Amino acid sequence: MLSILVLNGPNLNLLGTRQPDVYGSTTLADIEGMCARHGKQIGFDVEFAQSNHEGVMVDLIHAARGRHVGIVMNAGAYTHTSIALMDAVASVELPLVELHLSNVHAREDFRHTSYIAKVALGIICGFGAQGYLLAMDAIKAHVAD
Ligand code: DQA
Repeated sequence: MLSILVLNGPNLNLLGTRQPDVYGSTTLADIEGMCARHGKQIGFDVEFAQSNHEGVMVDLIHAARGRHVGIVMNAGAYTHTSIALMDAVASVELPLVELHLSNVHAREDFRHTSYIAKVALGIICGFGAQGYLLAMDAIKAHVAD
């Protein structure tokens, strides 16, 4: 079965208790369950990962090549800073959807910059946990094309 990597970056392990007014009360484990169930519905395996470390995220992106047909990535704050993650995505040449729970464009100016957007298929932000499922659908539609 075709597989999607859902990769989460720093501080997202704290979802549920981290600034619930901004990020909601859904935990990362809840999101993992939602993604697994949605994967079954749309016919994709899902590998779910989280790391607080930029280099580990680079390694996970490299390892995705040949194993997954696409990546959904919420890189957290690394979105706004990481040339290394941008280069990793460009290197593996897999379709990637950039994902944010919050609408980053309605927030501080520093969140309006994304290195990941430069190499992403597209961006989904502002729809909370539901955004992960929309991003999976976008990968599916892209692969079917
Ligand atoms: C986030 C938005 C980022 O700006 C922030 O640093 C995060 C979470 C989001 O999901 O809304 O850690 O990626």
